[in-house]
Amino acid sequence: MQPLLIKRGAEADIYIVEWNSKKAVSKVRSPKSYRHPDLDAAIRKYRTIHEASFMSAAKSAGVMTPFVYFVDPVKAEIIMEFIEGQNVRDALTPDICYKIGRCAALLHASNIIHGDLTTSNFVMNKRLVLLDFGLSYYSERTEDMATDIRLIKEVFTSAHIAVRKAFPCFVEGYASVVGTKKIDKTLENVRKIEQRGRYARMT
Ligand SMILES: Nc1ncnc2c1ncn2[C@@H]1O[C@H](COP(=O)(O)OP(=O)(O)O)[C@@H](O)[C@H]1O
Ligand SMILES: [Mg+2]
Repeated sequence: MQPLLIKRGAEADIYIVEWNSKKAVSKVRSPKSYRHPDLDAAIRKYRTIHEASFMSAAKSAGVMTPFVYFVDPVKAEIIMEFIEGQNVRDALTPDICYKIGRCAALLHASNIIHGDLTTSNFVMNKRLVLLDFGLSYYSERTEDMATDIRLIKEVFTSAHIAVRKAFPCFVEGYASVVGTKKIDKTLENVRKIEQRGRYARMT
């Protein structure tokens, strides 16, 4: 099977490939000509290892992520399980919003901040699977957890989302893992970030 390009991103290209007779995904960080070649190689290598390690950290936290089959740090390539199913961007339901909330809370309970928590980074298989850990990092700060929540809230409240009460369903799912006291504190931080954004736009 020839590698089939399915997405050309700013940082990485995504291909469908075959790996030991199984359908797989290859995520390759392409060289950037505007960087010095040595620095470019180091950055791509670092980010590749970084992403693969967060994929397994998330799994340990109880969140479904694709299995990593192979990592090539020099080519800056991760070969991983192909997740069949619909991208959540195109198939959002209240139940999925609840499950996204659970995923976020499980990550945060292990001090993992996803860094790009949008509906495009979830695929609905038998269970909900989270992708794209390129921007993930460790933090125990409520403010950092709040940035994940603020981003998904923004996605939920954007015009093309047809699900009513998407964010309340998310909050319910999140609270089912960490309790209402913890989510209330984090939501307080979300409001602070939102206010800061509003003031920034006014000046
Ligand atoms: N393991 C996978 N299984 C199925 N689809 C995937 C997988 N990895 C990526 N994709 C698809 O490719 C898209 C881009 O991958 P992603 O890792 O999010 O890269 P980017 O950093 O460019 O957003 C995803 O939104 C998803 O639709
Ligand atoms: Mg993505």
